[in-house]
Amino acid sequence: MTRPTVYIETYGCQMNVSDTELMLGKLADSGYQSVDRPDGADVILINTCAIRDHAEQRVIGRLGEIKSKMKRDAVLGVTGCMAQRLGTQLLDRVKHVSLVIGPDGYRELPSLIESARGGDRAAAVEFDLEEHYEDFTPRRLDGVKAWIPVQRGCDYRCTYCIVPTTRGPERSRRLHDVVREVESVVASGISEVVLLGQTVNSYFDGEHDFGALLRAVGNVPGVRRLRFTSPHPNDFSDSVIEAMAETSACCEHVHLPMQSGSTRTLKRMLRRYTREAYFECAERLRIAIPGLALTTDIIVGFPGETEEDFAETLSAVRELRFEDAYTFKFSPRDGTPATRFPASDTVSDEVASERLDRLIKVVRAGSRERNLALLGERREVLVEKAAKRGGLLQSRTRDFKTVMLPGDSSLIGKYVHVELTGTTGSTFLGQIIGPRPALPLAV
Ligand code: 5AD
Ligand code: SF4
Repeated sequence: MTRPTVYIETYGCQMNVSDTELMLGKLADSGYQSVDRPDGADVILINTCAIRDHAEQRVIGRLGEIKSKMKRDAVLGVTGCMAQRLGTQLLDRVKHVSLVIGPDGYRELPSLIESARGGDRAAAVEFDLEEHYEDFTPRRLDGVKAWIPVQRGCDYRCTYCIVPTTRGPERSRRLHDVVREVESVVASGISEVVLLGQTVNSYFDGEHDFGALLRAVGNVPGVRRLRFTSPHPNDFSDSVIEAMAETSACCEHVHLPMQSGSTRTLKRMLRRYTREAYFECAERLRIAIPGLALTTDIIVGFPGETEEDFAETLSAVRELRFEDAYTFKFSPRDGTPATRFPASDTVSDEVASERLDRLIKVVRAGSRERNLALLGERREVLVEKAAKRGGLLQSRTRDFKTVMLPGDSSLIGKYVHVELTGTTGSTFLGQIIGPRPALPLAV
């Protein structure tokens, strides 16, 4: 008998990519074969994001497209954050969807699919605070780095954010379970691991904090690069920063969401830190970890954001010298506290778009200036994949810079030393100078 086929399409963050890997693993164990196109698949799952309206609109559009591609008896399911947020509403709204499963419901995936094949339509959107999918074997989609979820859910209540609603309360995996997964990843030939959590540095398994986790994972033989995303500034205790500094695998890069450079706006966002406290956190990290690169997330047009508030965001970006920033226009999410500010606080789309443009210009000018200053330097890179264009390879430095290289695909997964010879302003062009750094000349 031929095995049933499953196709999963993933939107949103790394946590969703990791969840897709868990779902593919679970379904493979239940006899499914994964395919890379929706046409002809027996089961199609769209693993969704709900962070901004735009993310959801894309999925609605995609569900429409898939309708014309799918086999008549195929099962179409929506999983992830948008599934959790909309639940049965999604079944009412999109008639060719028969399954809606939230982030804590993937254990039931095979049986829910079975019922759907029999004609049932169901939504599974209960939170399960014990669920870490410990017994699942993820089917890893990336052969060079491994995403390792260490925490699910979020206990912060940033007023703009839908994630506490879609992923439920915070819970951490046991340190030993994380270490065991990392050991198995290394045994499969992967040497870079990325620990994932919504506020990953608030990790606490009842016994071990994030510092202990970094040390334990960094000590697994064969882990050469250790990263994590995304931390919250308030959870960078001295012991966590010390562990980062003392763990040699820990890369010199932190993605530290700032959201705004204005204390007044940060307060309305309920970020629980001031501009000054954010600056201080960045400073503590930079002192402890020489050569640290900082990247960030910023929202513009948050309700009540004035021109003065926005100017503080611009000045923070200039002063903090971020290597890069992901910038977003505020998107109101139903049910979040930010939707309850008075209508007079709303920043018009026109103003928000104009601020976004100005912000992007400042971010780009900063990265360009810093990147130009790095030309001629030498770095170790890990070759990640073939680049989309130009027959080049795409690689990354420890401090998270993207370097395009000439070379053939046999280098994917390997570490090489490169000289940074050119930059577009955001990415680099490099030339390989050898597998290792040139030894300093004896004096
Ligand atoms: N509108 C715009 N951006 C948002 N983010 C989270 N919620 C919203 C929203 N409602 C951004 C934040 C976060 C990143 C993942 O997405 O900057 O850090
Ligand atoms: Fe990830 Fe947040 Fe989007 Fe969910 S809503 S997929 S947690 S970015």
